[in-house]
Amino acid sequence: MTTESIIKIPFHRAEFGEEEVEAVTEVIRSGWLTMGAKTFEFERQFTEYVGARFAVAVSSCTAALHLCLEAIGVRAGDEVLIPTTTFTATAEVVTYLGARPVFVDIDSQTMNLDPRDAERRITSQTRAIIPVHFGGQPCDMEEIHDLAEAHKLHVVEDAAHALPATYRGATIGAFSELTAFSFYATKTLSTGEGGMITTDNEGYAQRLQLMRLHGISRDAWKRYAVKNAWHYEVIEHGFKYNFTDLQAALGIVQLAKCDAMSKARRRIAERYTQAFRNIESLEVPVVCEDRDSAWHLYALRLKLDRLQINRAQFIDELAQRGIATSVHFIPLHLQPVYQRVYGYKSGDLPNAEAQYLRCLSLPIYSSMSGDELEFVILSVLDVATKWSR
Ligand SMILES: Cc1ncc(COP(=O)(O)O)c(C=O)c1O
Repeated sequence: MTTESIIKIPFHRAEFGEEEVEAVTEVIRSGWLTMGAKTFEFERQFTEYVGARFAVAVSSCTAALHLCLEAIGVRAGDEVLIPTTTFTATAEVVTYLGARPVFVDIDSQTMNLDPRDAERRITSQTRAIIPVHFGGQPCDMEEIHDLAEAHKLHVVEDAAHALPATYRGATIGAFSELTAFSFYATKTLSTGEGGMITTDNEGYAQRLQLMRLHGISRDAWKRYAVKNAWHYEVIEHGFKYNFTDLQAALGIVQLAKCDAMSKARRRIAERYTQAFRNIESLEVPVVCEDRDSAWHLYALRLKLDRLQINRAQFIDELAQRGIATSVHFIPLHLQPVYQRVYGYKSGDLPNAEAQYLRCLSLPIYSSMSGDELEFVILSVLDVATKWSR
């Protein structure tokens, strides 16, 4: 029997119900599927939800990050600071503009970018910093903003994991000049694929709206719409990054349940922590008192000196018991393309490497039942006990 055939608890299961089916059906029946009134309504509701002035919906968080860097004027030869412990999207968008991603080591406790290490890597070419809220727990934004101000850097938050999350009472999305969210299939709020940018800056909002749809001027639309409906002006080399009303239909229903879905994730995280915090071979995620995590991930860490098996074997043991897990993240500086193009090598960012070797992400999603949760806990405890040293 293969491992896959006995998986009982998937790594993720989206929470979609009849409401979503009806909302999508209504859009199909309306005859208008792409970006339109539903998208604008979703954007309006999103601004209210996070407390930002503007929200611009796009096809993914990757697109959102790319548009943010374009809006702040990142260009060839610039450097952008990002944590090495992130998904490749955070770095890849920097390369789209011919700029260079500069990897920063992480804080071993929080797994978030270490601002002191970031400071050491600033050069005259550094234009921006992209803090990633790992697993949904916000970075120390005050420290990052202080650093950015001192060195005149732009701050673009990668909040792919951080809806909804707060830092010192402020909602993520209403904090930095630009924040990018993801509605990918595994996120708290999902539209299958999708993303959102929030900002308080009207100039940025207009630029993002222009560039998400081919650089076609909305002013031109307005000017000619009445007399000459077919006419438009392409005023920039833009991108095909627009949202669709089908996605917006899902987004509006999901946004209404976002707090409830987030609470369910929090309850799961608290139960995991309660079950694992006194186990010698396990280390639970650090929770900072001044922040609320979105709990996109529950990254358990193994104390390898207390175990006879390594992380990969631990994952296999869980898979044999029917539990799917994942690893977040293989540090980007260990990936072949970043080594080949920028010369990174193993050993360059030691904290990230050490944490990578001992972390695994457990299933955490609002549609997880109490029985499923207890089964995961029993299985983790069983593996930890069987292989303890
Ligand atoms: C930290 C981080 N940033 C960006 C992305 C890209 O998001 P998307 O799949 O919506 O483009 C991801 C994907 O999960 C991510 O984990």
